[in-house]
Amino acid sequence: MRIAVLGGTGHIGMGISLRLAMAGHDVVVGSRLAEKAQQKAEEYTCILKERGFSSKVKGKDNSEASKIADLAILAIPFSHAYVTAESLKEDLAGKIVVSPLVPMEKKGKLFLYCPPPEGSAAEKIASILQNSRVVSAFQTAPAEKFANLDARIKWDIPVCGSDEEAKNTVIDVINSIDGLRGLDAGPLAVSRLVESLTPLLINLAIRNKTKDLSIRFV
Ligand SMILES: NC(=O)c1ccc[n+]([C@@H]2O[C@H](COP(=O)([O-])OP(=O)(O)OC[C@H]3O[C@@H](n4cnc5c(N)ncnc54)[C@H](OP(=O)(O)O)[C@@H]3O)[C@@H](O)[C@H]2O)c1
Repeated sequence: MRIAVLGGTGHIGMGISLRLAMAGHDVVVGSRLAEKAQQKAEEYTCILKERGFSSKVKGKDNSEASKIADLAILAIPFSHAYVTAESLKEDLAGKIVVSPLVPMEKKGKLFLYCPPPEGSAAEKIASILQNSRVVSAFQTAPAEKFANLDARIKWDIPVCGSDEEAKNTVIDVINSIDGLRGLDAGPLAVSRLVESLTPLLINLAIRNKTKDLSIRFV
């Protein structure tokens, strides 16, 4: 499967791109700038080569990456993701689009969930990308640990979507990544529950002087 990681040059995009490529997917890193995407793609390809993986990551601007992908992951800060989705509407038509977006704000020392009026970031993206198949996932994967390929991970990834086929495809993609278990969490409306876990994890980490907290259901 060809997967575009839009904003794949950033924190969560790095771990997602590397681990998807390690799982054998054809990964295209997207960026606002084609040159930056190509540089990052080369960097990721080198990291993979050092570990014995022959996969070659490509780099394109977000529009080109969206056009050539079967599935796109919107790895862009929520404050910019809505406008970006609007601009990529046509390129993403008919495709599966994954929202890892977490709308949150800092109030004093606390991180709080601040969903849009649509109920969740994923539902807002679905309202913009009406011709795409929007699924939400990856909100609780901490970026730094995900990108550290020496780190052993064992995380559950709740997946929400109202298009069952698209959701099952995303669950299969997640299960192809070593250390991840994709779990069906229900329709897209449930994304608000999952998105709100991320500020909880960050608050727990800060208050208990730890880091990289994720989730596993037992
Ligand atoms: N960080 C985490 O641990 C984590 C975990 C789970 C989910 N998430 C979610 O994943 C998303 C990305 O988070 P992140 O921490 O990876 O973000 P980030 O590193 O701050 O940014 C990701 C990429 O977004 C692009 N970008 C920045 N400003 C933009 C703008 N104005 N318009 C369009 N694109 C812009 C940049 O790519 P170019 O400059 O190359 O275009 C950047 O590399 C967020 O929605 C976040 O809630 C993050």
